[in-house]
Amino acid sequence: MRSLLFVPGDSERKLAKALGSRADALILDLEDSVSSDKKEGARKTVRSAIHEVRQKKTRPRIFVRVNPLDSGLLEGDLDEVAPARPDGIMLPKARGGQDVMQLSTKLAVREAENDLPDGEIAILPIATESAAALFNMGSYAGASRRLCALTWGAEDLSADVGASTNRLTDGTYADPYRLARALALFAATAAEVAPIDTVFVNFRDMAGLEFECAAARRDGFTGKLAIHPDQVATINEAFTPSAEAIARARAIIAAFAANPGAGVLGLDGEMIDRPHIKRAQRLLEAAKAAGVE
Ligand code: COA
Ligand code: MG
Repeated sequence: MRSLLFVPGDSERKLAKALGSRADALILDLEDSVSSDKKEGARKTVRSAIHEVRQKKTRPRIFVRVNPLDSGLLEGDLDEVAPARPDGIMLPKARGGQDVMQLSTKLAVREAENDLPDGEIAILPIATESAAALFNMGSYAGASRRLCALTWGAEDLSADVGASTNRLTDGTYADPYRLARALALFAATAAEVAPIDTVFVNFRDMAGLEFECAAARRDGFTGKLAIHPDQVATINEAFTPSAEAIARARAIIAAFAANPGAGVLGLDGEMIDRPHIKRAQRLLEAAKAAGVE
């Protein structure tokens, strides 16, 4: 998943628009973009949107961002949306692997009640929305086989610590949020799931978005959250491996295939060894998922 587009769950207009966006995944939101008085109606709107999307031959993956575990709203959210078979649930304000396990149990109950395959609905936590959560980042590894990716957020984290802003005047993140970003990258990697970069909220600033996508791609993130359909093309392009990168990955794999006993080789004047093979394989997987391999 390169692009994951947030869509407020109470807006039928945006839900319809999102379907034409070419995002790899849609995240139908029941949390922060929906006001308290609209939550009930949004559950129903999201439920029918999932049904509608699932009818389509080619379709984006569908996630629902539910309300947090301690919100008092989660059970009702799951009762309404789980029977519609979303591909996954995004868990905001996640505090660690324990929260993923707790959500997993709730999903298992709904799957059993609705005759759905056990373990089918995946979980994508937002792992850095509170200061306390940052101390549990290692606990996602092995927490649940439902864990399919992991992402991070800076807005709720800065509210939690009482910061006046999370960005410097040049637009880059201040140190506390750079740490959260790096921890999310390592937590996802340690858990062997996809690291997804957070939202870029200035949706008219395409140069700023491109800059953040390039940095995310360079550091190992494999996709990015979007808040506006106009962001999707830029994100998809940034996270689609280039033809040169694909050729290079193929050359690395071919070099080792031609020298089965070798632990280390030279290729175009550069040393390559085990980590290079792993990276090359991952790149080819990403290319395949993006439809360019
Ligand atoms: N998904 C689907 N459609 C969207 C969209 C989204 N996330 N964001 C905007 N659109 C639609 C608008 O409805 C509008 O459609 P229309 O021309 O048919 O009316 C069109 O795209 C252009 O929108 P624009 O005028 O540029 O933006 P806006 O002022 O209407 O909306 C936001 C701005 C930020 C309110 C909107 O992008 C949004 O709701 N984003 C998602 C917010 C969210 O889910 N946040 C939670 C995670 S942080
Ligand atoms: Mg939030």
